[in-house]
Amino acid sequence: MDYEPINKIPVEKMKVRPNLTREAELVAGFDWVSLEKELQLEESVNYNLAYAAIDRHLKNQPDKVAMIWEGKSGEQEKYSFKDLALLTNKFANVLLGLGVKKGDRIFIFMARLPELYVAFFGGLKIGAVVGPLFSAFGPDPVRDRLADSGASLFITTPDLKARVEHIFKELPALKNIIIVNKNNRHPGSLGKDEISYETAMEKASPQLGKMASGKENHSIIHYTSGTTGKPKGAVHAHNALIQHYATGKWALDLHEDDIYWCTADPGWVTGTSYGMSAPWTNGVTQLVYEGGYKASMWYSLIEKYRVTVWYTAPTAIRMLMKAGEKIPAEHDLSTLRHICSVGEPLNPEAVVWGQRVFNQAIHDNWWQTETGAILIANYAFMSVRPGSMGRPTPGITPEIVDDTFNELPPGQEGNLAVRPGWPAMFRTYWNNKELYESRFKNGWYITGDRAKKDKDGYFWFIGRTDDVINTAGHLVGPFEVESALLEHPAVAEAGVIGKPDPLAMEVVKAFVALKDGFTPSDEIRRELMQFCRKKLAAASAPREIEFIDKLPKTRSGKIMRRLLKAKELGLPTGDTSTLEDD
Ligand code: PRX
Repeated sequence: MDYEPINKIPVEKMKVRPNLTREAELVAGFDWVSLEKELQLEESVNYNLAYAAIDRHLKNQPDKVAMIWEGKSGEQEKYSFKDLALLTNKFANVLLGLGVKKGDRIFIFMARLPELYVAFFGGLKIGAVVGPLFSAFGPDPVRDRLADSGASLFITTPDLKARVEHIFKELPALKNIIIVNKNNRHPGSLGKDEISYETAMEKASPQLGKMASGKENHSIIHYTSGTTGKPKGAVHAHNALIQHYATGKWALDLHEDDIYWCTADPGWVTGTSYGMSAPWTNGVTQLVYEGGYKASMWYSLIEKYRVTVWYTAPTAIRMLMKAGEKIPAEHDLSTLRHICSVGEPLNPEAVVWGQRVFNQAIHDNWWQTETGAILIANYAFMSVRPGSMGRPTPGITPEIVDDTFNELPPGQEGNLAVRPGWPAMFRTYWNNKELYESRFKNGWYITGDRAKKDKDGYFWFIGRTDDVINTAGHLVGPFEVESALLEHPAVAEAGVIGKPDPLAMEVVKAFVALKDGFTPSDEIRRELMQFCRKKLAAASAPREIEFIDKLPKTRSGKIMRRLLKAKELGLPTGDTSTLEDD
């Protein structure tokens, strides 16, 4: 079914920023340097995300609430910009005291607690490269990330430490472990040689000497999955902040009096770029909720905190749609004036549903871990074409190119590519310059997505060009799951694909051949699922396992996931000339 464009938000609902009422003006009035001046950033003085997001506000609005935190048991805490500035100074001093230096990699493994935010920005202040990790991770993804990056410091809570501590001995570069446990909220104890966050913070000075500064200094590392091998560490630079600031205005339409809620976890790039950097560089109050998805809870939070701008994801929206329209009707959601979504294709039905339930279209936008910031968006002021990702943000030149990396005319499907050089672009993959360079062809950054552009410049997502699975907005590399399965004594071979799913877009499905002496059974199936959940994370573990005698492989021994996918979908298998003989 084709959907008519949904008209822009009624003007009376939208606070129009005078120079942003029309796209042409928006593009004409923009350049990165003037934005840097707006934030009073100077290369060797204060060009640091922590300054732009936190300390910058000490001058004009030190007491403004930066973060409203609600814990999963209903606890509530509020932090002003001044509170955050002092706490992050203290944590920076804790790190300096431990000998952490500029460029050292430090990882944070905890739920969305205030301490996660303090550790993150404290680390940035001294120039450390910070890697927040999704708290649902099992030991394998944590070990892989710390090992690959040679991390020297790890910050966690005792309960999460217990889940992964057996990997520490495999990490020779790891020098310090800091344990956060405010009010003994988390079960578990402080191990020998581990540092108590609370004790160290109590002793630390709230005064910090000079903050590390420089737009090209590395800031954040986020591991992202590819088709082959383990996830790769996309490394970002402090320069990204300027684009977070700008897209926070342009795509999220943030204004100073907004209450903003980004539902993404900082373990993923959305949770750092738009759950930390964009709102705070814009001086906006944001809600951080420790708990997970629950329809009634989410609507209650919007009502309770009078959320005005909401950034979420298609799977969550589909879950809300499934929960029905009775629950939102029981809440006063009238404060909401702009809703955005990212991470997976947003179905046209969801956009139309948003219009009905929230009286406004849900605004899709597109970007990736590697792009660091929103590059394509439906602006608040523009007509939404349901199903489209929107149009390029200022300063960004995306195009559709063919397989020889030449531009295609509007209407034709091809590879989504972007002219490199935007501020938030990743600077490298950690320890893998070769792979980084392979992402650039013929003067384009090749995104790995297939898309098309219509004659009016709107981009439409078609799919990925690789085997990476997108489950509920989380990219899962099939190789990682296959490797985990192969570690189980019963598994001879495993091939993993994304199986289409109405809610999560795709779920992880594994085809498994068992070793001689093992017979397929529901019990082994359950055991394998459990095994992967423990090692990886629930989100990356197979939701379905099908036993087969032998996996289709090329003559060189590579699993042909394409054939497994065709089998799953009941489609023709296409070219099988490279398939190994029986
Ligand atoms: O395939 C695209 C999909 O998610 C990928 C990026 O995932 P990740 O690196 O984890 O970044 C998450 C931060 C956005 C893309 O290559 N994707 C992202 N946004 C959309 C999307 N697919 C369709 N529509 C979108 N709006």
